[in-house]
Amino acid sequence: MNYSFSNRIAALQPSIIREILKASSGQNVIPFSAGNPAPETFPIEAIRTFTQSILEHDPVTALQYGITEGYVPLREALTQHLKTGFDTGKPSDQLFIVSGAQQGIELACKVFCNEGDTIICESPSFIGSLNSFRASGAKLAGVPMEMDGMDIEKLEQALQTEPNVKMIYVIPSFQNPTGVTTSLAKRKAIYELAKKYGVMILEDNPYGELRFNGDDVPTIKSMDDEGLVIYVGSFSKILSAGLRVGFVQAPHEVVEKMVVAKQGEDVHTAMLPQILAYKFMTEYDYAGHINSIREVYRRKATLMMDKLQEHMGESITYTQPDGGLFLWCDLPAHVPMLDYAKTAAAQGVAVVPGNAFLVNEQDPCNAIRLNFSTPSDEQIVKGVEILGQVLKGYNA
Ligand SMILES: Cc1ncc(COP(=O)(O)O)c(C=O)c1O
Repeated sequence: MNYSFSNRIAALQPSIIREILKASSGQNVIPFSAGNPAPETFPIEAIRTFTQSILEHDPVTALQYGITEGYVPLREALTQHLKTGFDTGKPSDQLFIVSGAQQGIELACKVFCNEGDTIICESPSFIGSLNSFRASGAKLAGVPMEMDGMDIEKLEQALQTEPNVKMIYVIPSFQNPTGVTTSLAKRKAIYELAKKYGVMILEDNPYGELRFNGDDVPTIKSMDDEGLVIYVGSFSKILSAGLRVGFVQAPHEVVEKMVVAKQGEDVHTAMLPQILAYKFMTEYDYAGHINSIREVYRRKATLMMDKLQEHMGESITYTQPDGGLFLWCDLPAHVPMLDYAKTAAAQGVAVVPGNAFLVNEQDPCNAIRLNFSTPSDEQIVKGVEILGQVLKGYNA
């Protein structure tokens, strides 16, 4: 059969980078390439107990259709949590549940962007979002990331020159892939520019609670007096990625449209995971659990950075994240990055070539993304040692 795929999807090609990733996803490979939360952070016993209790006391709510906006007690608990914990959410906002942050991102694009409209993205940025935007037919304009967030001058240039800009997509805390946190000054500047040019901001904050150093920085949504910000959060990195529960907070009229769009996708997010998320927030030591995850990631990030320093410190530079799951490592200029990633994979260590995260994958990039949450401590020690040996091979 000669399949006649839609123009939108036919244009999406598997890249050489993704082929490298596939080749390095074997069982015995040290996984610095994944973006998975550490499995030891899943509260398995609590999930088992809560599941039993739900099926015993309220099986019908868990097994029946629900409303698209989501389980009301969970929406209320989240609205309260965002308000008290992050001063986020105005009376004109509404919160609804999505099947992971990924769906919230896709819905935001769907309700605002016509084919050919522009979304301004940090470059590099999260591949899942970039591909979702590409699949919708939106045009992406990349603004380079600096150590404290987007280059604001280039952001304004893009707002002035790109056609039909609808949205600025930002991952302000412990960004995937760089680990960078956007400073308060830049968050304010991004908000002011969005206001000046009349575009929406899509604030994607799945790592917001995973700070292991320093103080929280206010969300962009907390500054939102004009109804410009769509805020997306997730339980993936604090409860379980596989339960697929996320949430969106946005102005009431925007939520109305996103909810209609969600109806056509999956009707509603599965009820059992939503009730589990609610119980996790209200009947479990939520704060204690988050603190314990932060401890795990502080330890793993510190271990990875210590080992990078020990084995490659003279030759590379890397971001020093204050939270999240990733760090971004620039290789020396003479090292061909894709070849380095392939050689590392052949030696049993998977890393992600930095190009994969660029708005334009062909742009020059000599960085790799390293994930410290998925590998065990032993794998971090061994894996970084191997990365160091591979690097030395290019110096010989
Ligand atoms: C920046 C960013 N946004 C969104 C997501 C998707 O998260 P979810 O599992 O909630 O769909 C991820 C997942 O890794 C991510 O890194």
